[in-house]
Amino acid sequence: MFEEIAEKIKDSKKIVFVTGAGISQESGIPTFRGKDGLWGKYDAMQLATINAFYDNPQLVWEWYNERRNNIFSAKPNLGHKAIAELEKYAEVTVLTQNIDGLHQRAGSSKVLELHGSIIKIKCTVCGFNEEILTEFEEVPPICKCGNILRPDVVWFGELLPQDVWQEAMIHSNQCDIMVIVGTSLVVSPANTLPIYAKQNNAFLIEVNPEETIMSADMDFSVRSSSAVSLPELVSIFKKSK
Ligand code: APR
Repeated sequence: MFEEIAEKIKDSKKIVFVTGAGISQESGIPTFRGKDGLWGKYDAMQLATINAFYDNPQLVWEWYNERRNNIFSAKPNLGHKAIAELEKYAEVTVLTQNIDGLHQRAGSSKVLELHGSIIKIKCTVCGFNEEILTEFEEVPPICKCGNILRPDVVWFGELLPQDVWQEAMIHSNQCDIMVIVGTSLVVSPANTLPIYAKQNNAFLIEVNPEETIMSADMDFSVRSSSAVSLPELVSIFKKSK
């Protein structure tokens, strides 16, 4: 799959991955906009906005608990593991839109969670925050200060954590290769990262079984699943060492 760009790949020193729900699809976690995607079954505006949360925190927490349980039983797949293994051959940074923590569980050491994490919760009043790896007895959970706790994820219309975003842009501006895996690139500002990379002469590789709205901007596209194709990317490096 990557043979024709093997020379380009082998020479790269700094690789940035921008990943989306598609890379976790082969771990059994549904995507958002695919044929069985979450936004096909649920109304994103009822579940993934701050107004939805304050209108019906019980419903939002029940949905997130359902997703948490699915994610806790999921395992990193060969795509996640390939990205982690690439750290043996180059400087690798993962900029993920996913909140499932599977890149970290696969062994990736540099992961920026652009949209937060499903295991993190926070209080919007007193600033309390912590990681919770279990299901909640009571839904919605209540903070020690008496206010409702929320998932520490980025909802539609909310800003990304600015420290994370600034760092993500720096990595995008400095990489030799950016591999965009399993994302429809319809949600901003994550979908601007390939533009920053391209402006700094990075080589853009898209890994997605389907075309996206930015496929024309890519230097090379692999129309395959990430769990099948990313191990082949690792073998290109293995052969060169
Ligand atoms: N391997 C690689 N790509 C895949 C696979 C796979 N096995 N299966 C599906 N895909 C691709 C689909 O073709 C699609 O382009 O993954 C992409 C998933 O797109 P979305 O469902 O839109 O997910 P994503 O791009 O991560 O959404 C971005 O939107 O709803 C918000 O906050 C949410 O972080 C999410 C953001």
